Amino acid sequence: MSEHSTDPTPPEAHPSRPLVWDLPTRLFHWTFAGLFAAAFLVALLSSEHSRIFLLHMLAGLVMAFAVLLRIGWGLVGSRPSRFSAFLYRPMDLARYLRAAFEGRDQPTPGHNPAASYAVYAMLLLPLGLVATGLLKTSGQDWAEELHGALAYGLLAVVVLHLAGLAWHSRRHRDRIALAMVDGRRSVAGFAGLPSHRIWAGALFLVLMGGWGFSLARGFDPVARQVALPFLGVTLPLDDGGDSKEKGGHRGEPREHGHHDDD
Ligand code: HEM
Repeated sequence: MSEHSTDPTPPEAHPSRPLVWDLPTRLFHWTFAGLFAAAFLVALLSSEHSRIFLLHMLAGLVMAFAVLLRIGWGLVGSRPSRFSAFLYRPMDLARYLRAAFEGRDQPTPGHNPAASYAVYAMLLLPLGLVATGLLKTSGQDWAEELHGALAYGLLAVVVLHLAGLAWHSRRHRDRIALAMVDGRRSVAGFAGLPSHRIWAGALFLVLMGGWGFSLARGFDPVARQVALPFLGVTLPLDDGGDSKEKGGHRGEPREHGHHDDD
């Protein structure tokens, strides 16, 4: 495992799998991956004006909140989770990719340059998705195509992410996928985090639960809208096209028994 013969770190500081990803980062990871999968599948499998499609928007709003929390954690979290630990210039990315293609790359404790660009894309694209989704439901039809393009862009990055993990596991004989489960990685020259940051993980769950619960309370599936907690804003979850067809207006209760999925 250790190819760093010049590494001055004493051997006792080299647990075989030091802790790299704290609990908040891992909880964010699986929340984010689950919400992305849910939002994507609902969009693929249901009709835009069905009731079930509302879950697509709700999943997007919860995902955006998770991303905002992760951005906060990127400023104050444990070292490998901080943005400052994986801020690479394009030149670093090019150098890393060349080394990887030539089989000279060395595993890094946190995100390597290629992974870091994917992470930034995976954090920014959902914010663009929510913004274009809200523009669309407020009647800006031009946002629809952009929303679709961003969604497929995010899917492409996720596929690259999974391909990168598979490539890394094979090339370094390292089961890196486990790192987002127990937080530990087989990496040399890193002493490991002293703590999982369990309290911060619990706070993440409380904040996510609070946001999800408040959204559920402010959700009106008949009027197809949701009241955002704490902000006093009500968002339409439909562009109103369907209501016009049914002779109603957005925000007005619809007749029951006419939904696509009923
Ligand atoms: C079986 C599926 C997956 C596994 C095993 C997995 C595993 C991992 C691992 C090991 C990392 C750390 C990579 C590194 O060391 O640089 C990571 C990071 C990340 N993954 Fe995944 N991943 C999976 C699916 C997904 C999916 C579906 C998404 C998005 C929809 C996703 C989004 C991310 C993000 C955003 C990060 C950065 C985490 C952060 O720094 O906050 N992952 N993943």
